[in-house]
Amino acid sequence: MACNGVTGHCPRSYVVLVDESSCQSARGSGSSAWALAHESVFLRFAVEGAFTELNGTTYIEHLAHRYGVQPEGALNAFISRHDGQLYLDERVCLNTLAEQYGAPLEVSFLPLITKQIVQMHTYAEAARLAAGYQGSFVYAYATKANFAEEVVRTALQSGAHYETSSAADIIIAHQLWRQGVLRANQYMFCNGSKDLGYRKAILALREAGHEQLIPIVDDLDELAYLSSHCQVPMQFGVRVRFDIGDVDPDHPGGERFGLTHSEIDSAVAMLVGTPHSIVMYHAMVGSQIEDAHVWKIQLSSAVDRYAALAHRIPTLRMFNFGGGMPTDSYQLDFQFDCQAFLQTLMSALVDACAQYGTPHPELVGEFGRYTVGSHTVYLMEVGAVKPGRGGAPDWYLLNGSLMVSLPDMLIVEGQQFIVLPLNEWHLPARPVRLAGRYTCDTDDFYPRPGQPPLLLPNGGEGTILAFFGVGAYQQMLSGRGGAHHCLTPEMRRITIEADGDELVVRETPPQHLSDIMSLLGYNNATLELGIRRGEQNAERSIVRSFRMPVKRSARMWKRARPV
Ligand SMILES: Cc1ncc(COP(=O)(O)O)c(C=O)c1O
Repeated sequence: MACNGVTGHCPRSYVVLVDESSCQSARGSGSSAWALAHESVFLRFAVEGAFTELNGTTYIEHLAHRYGVQPEGALNAFISRHDGQLYLDERVCLNTLAEQYGAPLEVSFLPLITKQIVQMHTYAEAARLAAGYQGSFVYAYATKANFAEEVVRTALQSGAHYETSSAADIIIAHQLWRQGVLRANQYMFCNGSKDLGYRKAILALREAGHEQLIPIVDDLDELAYLSSHCQVPMQFGVRVRFDIGDVDPDHPGGERFGLTHSEIDSAVAMLVGTPHSIVMYHAMVGSQIEDAHVWKIQLSSAVDRYAALAHRIPTLRMFNFGGGMPTDSYQLDFQFDCQAFLQTLMSALVDACAQYGTPHPELVGEFGRYTVGSHTVYLMEVGAVKPGRGGAPDWYLLNGSLMVSLPDMLIVEGQQFIVLPLNEWHLPARPVRLAGRYTCDTDDFYPRPGQPPLLLPNGGEGTILAFFGVGAYQQMLSGRGGAHHCLTPEMRRITIEADGDELVVRETPPQHLSDIMSLLGYNNATLELGIRRGEQNAERSIVRSFRMPVKRSARMWKRARPV
């Protein structure tokens, strides 16, 4: 077979992906660079070795073989399937929503945010007991992951504290504080390099009376500014700047944040004799960390330095390990023992604090992806199937844009998303590649080069695919409400919130072409949009909502009455 030359690693399934004649012809024209590149595409599809023998293998069998999941019941912590229908958090039937609203569709289920926050507190409490840790655990939501009002409000109301990254973030927090959504006892940790606008927003909120505001110093200049301009005592954090060798090589940008050890000493000296104090040591290692052991090693010197510093300055009372907590939002079989990680970190702090005779600190984590990754799903429909060339897998062309909806697929190397069909799991599985139909961009496809094709049911046109784990960063990077690549309109949005014993369901219509045109400066009064202006306005103004009891099955929504 053509695959015999694949460096001894030849999954048997290769034969179903690339037939001999197509491989031979690619090799036959081997003098051409294109042909070589073409061949390497085949090889890249083959090397993963993740495919079962596909002849007749159904999609259900493939999932069982690849992920060890059954077609009925839980597929992971937030996706399940019952009576052949796919559910988000056991309560939202995606098949029903697709029938009712069609695709593309965005579904956001806010109770999943609460669930994540409660779950992490449970892990932390168990870890505290096991490690004999006397400090408390502080969960902060890193709002940069998703700034949507309903998301931030849900996180705060579920007991999260607030982590900010910009002046705009503080302006939002200021308003939430005035409204009582951000309460007086909820911390605000202000990270990032602070320009004048950010500094002034911090000062305004602190001087307005919010005492639990903690700017985390990124350079000495901002410390000098804030400490000299603030009329009331301010609590500060210092972020440690890791050496280049200690920074995750996949995210070298992390090296620029924070203060070196000698700058931290200068910061301490600068606040002597002022009403201000340093209360927090911040040691963020990276993002999407998947190896708890490596994480612990990277944090160990910071733990030691925290205890030594706390011995010198008794105001220091918080250790912040920052963001980076991984989530099961992106891979069906992803495992990370959060409780074990927290327990290991707490044990290290217990030892270091014993050595220096200092109290156990409040342990702070800033959770972005972990908090909001799982709560949103996109549904897109296969509008056309186009054969792949030269034996490469066929294209499933979707009624959306992948690069607009899932920008991390381009930005984060190796980024995965969980993609599951709503129906037809009994059909034979086939390897396919997904492409967005709403752009004509060669890069608008998934999986990315170097990754194997997806295996999906052989359902072709009309198949609706659910893209899970899209609640963090995707909309912020894409620019929610903006004009997108090739003017791809944003999809209809269904937002489901808990309100006491009821779920409130809100429908927001898809982004209208005339709104996109206005953003770009066109006079939409004279545009030929192919839809009557009255109809357009009527559609745009529909923001429907209805209520239903929490316990009622999501399938009943069809019959629920709008309020
Ligand atoms: C300072 C800080 N905290 C928290 C986060 C959130 O990280 P994650 O989404 O990995 O939890 C980030 C992400 O960039 C960050 O820079």
